[in-house]
Amino acid sequence: MIRRTVNFPSLRKLLLRPSYLSSSKIGAYNGYASQPSPLPIPDPTYSDDDEYANVDWDSLGFGLMPTDFMYVTKCSAGQNFGHGQLNRYGNIELSPSAGVLNYGQGLFEGTKAYRKENGQLLLFRPEENAIRMKIGAERMCMTAPSIDQFVDALKQTALANKRWVPPPGKGSLYLRPLLLGSGPVLGLAPAPEYTFLIYASPVRNYFKEGSAPLNLYVEEDFDRASQRGTGSVKTISNYAPVLMAQNRAKSRGFSDVLYLDSNSKKNLEEVSSCNIFIAKGKTISTPAISGTILSGITRKSVIEIGSDLGYQVEERVVAVDELTEADEVFCTGTAVGVAPVGSITYQNKRVDYKTGSGTICQELCKTILGIQTGSIEDKKGWIVEFD
Ligand code: COI
Repeated sequence: MIRRTVNFPSLRKLLLRPSYLSSSKIGAYNGYASQPSPLPIPDPTYSDDDEYANVDWDSLGFGLMPTDFMYVTKCSAGQNFGHGQLNRYGNIELSPSAGVLNYGQGLFEGTKAYRKENGQLLLFRPEENAIRMKIGAERMCMTAPSIDQFVDALKQTALANKRWVPPPGKGSLYLRPLLLGSGPVLGLAPAPEYTFLIYASPVRNYFKEGSAPLNLYVEEDFDRASQRGTGSVKTISNYAPVLMAQNRAKSRGFSDVLYLDSNSKKNLEEVSSCNIFIAKGKTISTPAISGTILSGITRKSVIEIGSDLGYQVEERVVAVDELTEADEVFCTGTAVGVAPVGSITYQNKRVDYKTGSGTICQELCKTILGIQTGSIEDKKGWIVEFD
């Protein structure tokens, strides 16, 4: 079931027309000073007829590849965001006293647009990202875009950058919505102005391991989140603090870090950039959302798909000790997808897990990716298809 079909038949062609690029409508939104980027925009000599940007699609990883346009709008605190602009991708100008720079008042999201064989684009449950941003904005005392504006802005950004959406089977266009406290503050207070921006980059596998199993390290020296903190919010301020542990784990040869709860240090929480599941027999378990864990959209979808496929799916406290008994472990996230974990090292003991063909992880991965890319029928109204 495809819930909505939206047509923007000529938007991208219009935007890419050289006359339009140099006209006042693009890149010259007076209320918002975006600057030309010092980063090279690859292949600026495209024509309206180019279906694809000049990219080696087979060597895509998860690094920033600047694309043509970004969506930008801003508003005063407590007001509604106006219609956004598609500006050329580039640097933005911020006051040195912007709330986001001084006090970390910022949220981000991530979602992916896939290209179907027929050229249409697909988004997966984009309103879930919009809702999460709204909830996060409340917690961070920020003004958020409406659900409709958020989803519409995603579509506009994907369409304006359509030539950067990889061919079917070669990856996706990662869309990164940001909500920033852009207004100036000196004393600690919410910013008086907010900027909502979406940029895009073509991506494929998140981890350098590609689709090979991950080797995780259970972190005991650092916590990711604390009770009644902001662990469940996709705030930018949750991510820099995990870098030290991540660097340390990577320098020891691990793929990433698995965090425990900060109270007892006995229960699983999440990996730096994704949620975690364990499987034993026909039961799949994942840590329950309790305020410290990010409510992942892939997590939520895998829970539903897992039950549809006949597994017993449990959201509960998952003890770190259960890692020794599990048959399989896997991670879920927008960037990560559904990624198999080959081993976990905890207190100097490494436990290995089943990976590869015939695993629950592989079945879930194929099913969700099939729905996201349009090769499996969407019976849940999760897909938004547009062109
Ligand atoms: C995503 O999965 O899209 C995220 O936002 C995680 C990020 C750390 C890459």
